[in-house]
Amino acid sequence: MCGIIGYVGKKNSVPFIIDGLKKLEYRGYDSAGISILQEEKLVTVRAVGKVAELEKAALLANPKGQCGIGHTRWATHGKPCEENSHPHTDCTGEIVVVHNGIIENFLTLREKLSSLGHRFKSETDTEVIAHLIEENLKTACGATPKERLINAVRKTNGEISGAYAYGVLWAQVPGFLLGVKNQSPMVVGLGKDENFLSSDVPAFLKHTNKVLFLEDGEMAELTETGVKLLDKNGAEKPLKPVKINWDQKTAEKGGYEHFMLKEIYDQPQAIEDTLRTAQTDFGKLLNLNTRELRALQQVHIIACGTAYHAGLVGKYYIENFAGIPVTVDLASEYKYRCVPRTAGTLAIAVSQSGETADTIGAIRKAKELGFKTLAICNVLASTLTRVCDATFYTHCGPEISVASTKAFTSQLTSLYALALFLGKAKGNISEASFNSLYKELLTLSKFMADAVKIEYEVRHITKRVYKAPHFLFLGRNVNFPIALEGALKLKEVSYRSAEGFAAGEIKHGPISIIEKGTPTIVLMPADSLFEKMLSACQECRARGAFVIAVTTQEGARLAKDSVDKTIILPYAGELLQPVLNVVALQFFAYWTAKRLGCEIDQPRNLAKSVTVE
Ligand code: F6R
Repeated sequence: MCGIIGYVGKKNSVPFIIDGLKKLEYRGYDSAGISILQEEKLVTVRAVGKVAELEKAALLANPKGQCGIGHTRWATHGKPCEENSHPHTDCTGEIVVVHNGIIENFLTLREKLSSLGHRFKSETDTEVIAHLIEENLKTACGATPKERLINAVRKTNGEISGAYAYGVLWAQVPGFLLGVKNQSPMVVGLGKDENFLSSDVPAFLKHTNKVLFLEDGEMAELTETGVKLLDKNGAEKPLKPVKINWDQKTAEKGGYEHFMLKEIYDQPQAIEDTLRTAQTDFGKLLNLNTRELRALQQVHIIACGTAYHAGLVGKYYIENFAGIPVTVDLASEYKYRCVPRTAGTLAIAVSQSGETADTIGAIRKAKELGFKTLAICNVLASTLTRVCDATFYTHCGPEISVASTKAFTSQLTSLYALALFLGKAKGNISEASFNSLYKELLTLSKFMADAVKIEYEVRHITKRVYKAPHFLFLGRNVNFPIALEGALKLKEVSYRSAEGFAAGEIKHGPISIIEKGTPTIVLMPADSLFEKMLSACQECRARGAFVIAVTTQEGARLAKDSVDKTIILPYAGELLQPVLNVVALQFFAYWTAKRLGCEIDQPRNLAKSVTVE
């Protein structure tokens, strides 16, 4: 995730662009930059850090011009530094590009362009777009520079692959901006004598609420006086703008009331983006050859909070597919327990922020013990990624809400993919099984897109139970950590007391806390453990619990006489189902907190990154 903005109009574009970038900061904030066309010359200013740093640099450089582009970055390729900040230019310095997304074939293109004499100044995938446009301009047809630019950009789109949206400015066509969209967001704001290009509406909402949402494959041409929309074949399309009635704050959250809700809905995309890089990255990731991989004896997973719950699920995945014994530790405990120095150990730290002090301390200990270390992390170049030998990134974009949602399901997805890779490398699963299991994994984002449709059902159920003082969550096997996560999520955002248990354990003690009406949320898809879960429901119900089953269509049919309410999810298979089940619990926590009037995105006493021990 990054934020793009472009302005063309009668006024000086700089204040519009800086202000727009501030509104897009929720999409990324490790560096920012602008390029302004000033008297037919491009002036670029870039700065590491938040947009406020760019603003200071822009005040000093003081560029002025009626057409410009800007970018706030969430690093994916290349560390956060000035050279990697957008806008990026071609060799002539006359073409500038701002980009959001990932160009998957950038390495191949970079090699090809380098062999043609192009010189690269950054480590980013974005820079290939600028050079490719430069290259394609050499042969592009058209009577005017503008027509040639459009044709060169269209050719470029045919050569790049991945999910992207980008904006282009060419010094030879003053007062003209191009915006391209393919699987990453791009919107156009239609103003009076001025038009805007952006990743999201809040960037220009102050100036216009007339918005054009681009479709994949479309391209928008912007000038001061108008906007032209082209389809993927280059044919002009009629403009169908919509009027947005959101206020500024709502707009930053994509129309959702809270970031937590928006991030729950981001999950299909987050999973897709995470998997997009998994296949290429895991192979080379650990720098271990086949012999070394086969010699792996054990895995230690280390994490805190929600990431720890992801690690607990990861244990089932790795033991199931790779047959390697796994221990999962709370990072704050790992640091102080006696860990035997065993050869062939891989230590995996799971962390959204990569800045959690306990996790960093624990992985340092694993390193000192001579273990190979891998981070599963969401933030590029964070401390954890610098400490570990290798990193696999979850590409879910910035997570703003303190309560983690999309990072968790991206971590589960990554751990599943890692387990498959380890299983193949260890010879525990055949190439053919790997291929078919991986194919199944690639369908997960589609299941997730269906899973998020249950919000209304869950919302309705919370109306019945939200005032309860205490909640129970039950799961078994791979769904046991999901029960723990459901309880944590509810505690965090609603301040209610909640506990997660392994369903088989309740009869050994916890059942005593059940009284009339205790909401008991049971994770029970129709799988191999369904009947055991059904017994747990009956045990709880017999003692007065109000049982809510999180299940599948078939499970709902079979459980109808044993439970009070059902939440029905699509079925993705026994090991992938936890990734969907947690969505029901995220909505459950959200709606309970909302009904109780809690501060959802920033719950009391909590911080997004816990950087102290
Ligand atoms: C819960 C939550 C926390 C974090 C934990 C670790 O919603 O967000 O429990 O999961 O503090 O944080 P990271 O993943 O940044 O290491």
